[in-house]
Amino acid sequence: MDRTITQSDLEFDARHIWHPYGTTPSQYELFAVESASGVRLLLSDGREVIDGMSSWWSMVHGYNHPVMNQAIKDQVDSMSHVMFGGLTHKPAIELSRRLVALTPEPIKTVFFADSGSVAIEVAIKMAMQYWQCKGEIHKNKLLTFKGGYFGDTTGGMAVCDPDNGMHHLFTGILPEHHFVPRPGCGFYEILEDHHIETFRSELESLSLQVAAVIIEPIVQGAGGMHFYSPDFLKKVRALCDEHEVLLIHDEIATGFGRTGKMFACEHAGVIPDIMCVGKALTGGYMTLSAVMCTEEVSKTICASGPIMHGPTFMANPLACAAGVASMDILSTGEWVSQVANIEKKLWDGLSPCNDLETVDNVRVLGAIGVVELKEPVIMSEIQPRFPEQGVWVRPFGKLVYVMPPYIISDKDLDTLCKAIGKVVESIR
Ligand SMILES: Cc1ncc(COP(=O)(O)O)c(C=O)c1O
Repeated sequence: MDRTITQSDLEFDARHIWHPYGTTPSQYELFAVESASGVRLLLSDGREVIDGMSSWWSMVHGYNHPVMNQAIKDQVDSMSHVMFGGLTHKPAIELSRRLVALTPEPIKTVFFADSGSVAIEVAIKMAMQYWQCKGEIHKNKLLTFKGGYFGDTTGGMAVCDPDNGMHHLFTGILPEHHFVPRPGCGFYEILEDHHIETFRSELESLSLQVAAVIIEPIVQGAGGMHFYSPDFLKKVRALCDEHEVLLIHDEIATGFGRTGKMFACEHAGVIPDIMCVGKALTGGYMTLSAVMCTEEVSKTICASGPIMHGPTFMANPLACAAGVASMDILSTGEWVSQVANIEKKLWDGLSPCNDLETVDNVRVLGAIGVVELKEPVIMSEIQPRFPEQGVWVRPFGKLVYVMPPYIISDKDLDTLCKAIGKVVESIR
């Protein structure tokens, strides 16, 4: 296939292809990428841009990584896919072995799913089946924070933020769950009783009908890039235990080092009953997610029968091989200093934005940097300004944020932060 993108390709794309949360014909200009290497995307107009997004937070080791590429090439020559029902294979076994070793001790079993959203569906099913197997059929609701994002499938959407999510579009279709305000205690703030009070009282009054609390630990991602207190998370765990409610952690955005810990729950030293990972699981190379759970959850479900999920591409060998390669790269431990360095450089580089009239605040955690504006951006105006500055950043709402690949150099980080400063400064 000739990879050159012509004007007629772009016209075809605009007319015939849906892009995320998009329209056909597309409302917005599309930037065509011909290749990618390291932290750079090569656009079809010849420009090279530094990717501040890691392809929606997944491409942690950078593009065209030799270890990742080789692992996939080796796997494709051996077996690209085989059904997982009744069959098994080494890439799935090897990746599961590493995931079980990497996650806290009580987490023992792995379910491979196709994407982050599907992982959430499976996690919800696990929680519901767990209580059904215990004979507690009335425990079939979820409790979550407002401002969350758990993907675009029905189960996930039902626990996304009820005001800014998609609830209004799908009323009557989405199952109804319970919401409490998002944690009001920031990452570096000291937790006080009043911060946790609403969560405590809601859980107490709803515990007989709630199967699980489902949350993004420490960082609420696409629902607002909000960072909250590890002590809050500790209390959530303790209250779930007290009221016999399962705790599901969605680590799809936060897992594999992004917040400065391998998993965000490690900031608080808590262990969920069910944990979802995706995105960086394959170093961003392929779609794959995993739902992991404690032996208590898996044994309870399996005492009564099977888990009711089993997609066609479950544990796709190519994706699992990419996962194993990504775990190998992470196991060198280099990510720890890379993420710590990114955190420092993002603070230094983005803090000057605090002086801008249009900026509400700047916040950084691990390899996540956020400039929150006072007003939402106008995408059609702001988006092209980033490639003009030599970077790829895709804001949403009031948030201009970056989650660069861990391998980004100081010089490229500097360019990225300066570009954000210039673009934000240009907003009137
Ligand atoms: C926290 C979280 N959960 C779930 C998802 C859904 O993952 P996917 O887009 O792979 O379906 C996302 C995607 O951004 C996410 O950030």
